[in-house]
Amino acid sequence: MLARTIAIFNQKGGVGKTTTAMNLSGYCAMLGKKTLLIDFDSQFNATVGLGVRHDPEETIYHALLGGKRPREVIRRTYLAGLDIAPATSDLAGALIEMVEVPEREYLLRKFIHEVRSEYEYIFIDLGPSLNLLTINGLLAADEVIIPVQCEYYSLEGIAQVLETLDLIRKNLHHPIKIGGALLTMYDKREKLSREIAREIRRRFPYHVYDIEIPRSVALAEAPSFQKPIMLYAPQSSGAIAYEGLAKELLGETPFKKSETAAFYKKAYPEELKSDAIKIPEKPRAETEYEIDYGTYDPSGIVKEDLIKIEEDDAPPLILMIHEHSATEEGGEEESHVRVF
Ligand SMILES: Nc1ncnc2c1ncn2[C@@H]1O[C@H](COP(=O)(O)OP(=O)(O)O)[C@@H](O)[C@H]1O
Ligand SMILES: [Mg+2]
Repeated sequence: MLARTIAIFNQKGGVGKTTTAMNLSGYCAMLGKKTLLIDFDSQFNATVGLGVRHDPEETIYHALLGGKRPREVIRRTYLAGLDIAPATSDLAGALIEMVEVPEREYLLRKFIHEVRSEYEYIFIDLGPSLNLLTINGLLAADEVIIPVQCEYYSLEGIAQVLETLDLIRKNLHHPIKIGGALLTMYDKREKLSREIAREIRRRFPYHVYDIEIPRSVALAEAPSFQKPIMLYAPQSSGAIAYEGLAKELLGETPFKKSETAAFYKKAYPEELKSDAIKIPEKPRAETEYEIDYGTYDPSGIVKEDLIKIEEDDAPPLILMIHEHSATEEGGEEESHVRVF
């Protein structure tokens, strides 16, 4: 077995690369694949986001340039099956030191070569610039996933990414594959977001993943609790989306968002049965429902978000919001929910 090695790449910052790297690798591990995440960004957000404490002598930098073996720097995470090669800001220094090293473009590739037989999936979280670190990351990967934020200038960003990948193929003779573009921070309630998503699906010359990652407060919050989404808010729309993406990537049954509810029940039957959350045998009729958002930030709720509502004298309900719209003029919002 040799790990399938996937770089998460977009030269633009803030598009969801690190969020994707952490959560996609987490779900691959949860789906039973032995997975390694390499933090290859000198901002080391993935390392911090996964709560990995490390000795300053034991990071990816020390394996690349400090004579450490890969095994000496790879750590376990809180999630079974997921390991990480952590980074610190030292990695920024690597950029300068690397210039002096022979075969400097292939340092990460050599690192991966040594551990590749121990994993089924290796993800590389790359930084936003195009530098020697990024080149190392791309030359070490079989394929790339390109997170694309659903906003105005994203198509231009994609063009740049495709140019870089062409350069890797033609000038550096590395046949890197484009796994696909991943739509991130998608907000179905916003017309612009919908239009851009449609435009990317129409114009991107390669695969676009079926799963769209919604804008989700929980996804943004989880790293500050040093947890991947499945340990922080496993029922959130963001969690469900990343789990769906992992399934799509692993080539498991085609996954449609309309199947989210069924998928959720299948994925977490134990949790739903125990956890005081009861689902009646038969779904109740679809109904209009007044929602007390409680601690939920309504702006974070998107179509098909799952929330739990406690009623007096009744078991808690899992509700799936299947529509959440605001009038164009910013008037009243309405939500229709499906009650299980
Ligand atoms: N789907 C999402 N919904 C809400 N916030 C998100 C989502 N994806 C990423 N974010 C937040 O947006 C910011 C940038 O995301 P990040 O994954 O760090 O991007 P990159 O690694 O491309 O710079 C972070 O604060 C992150 O928590
Ligand atoms: Mg990042």
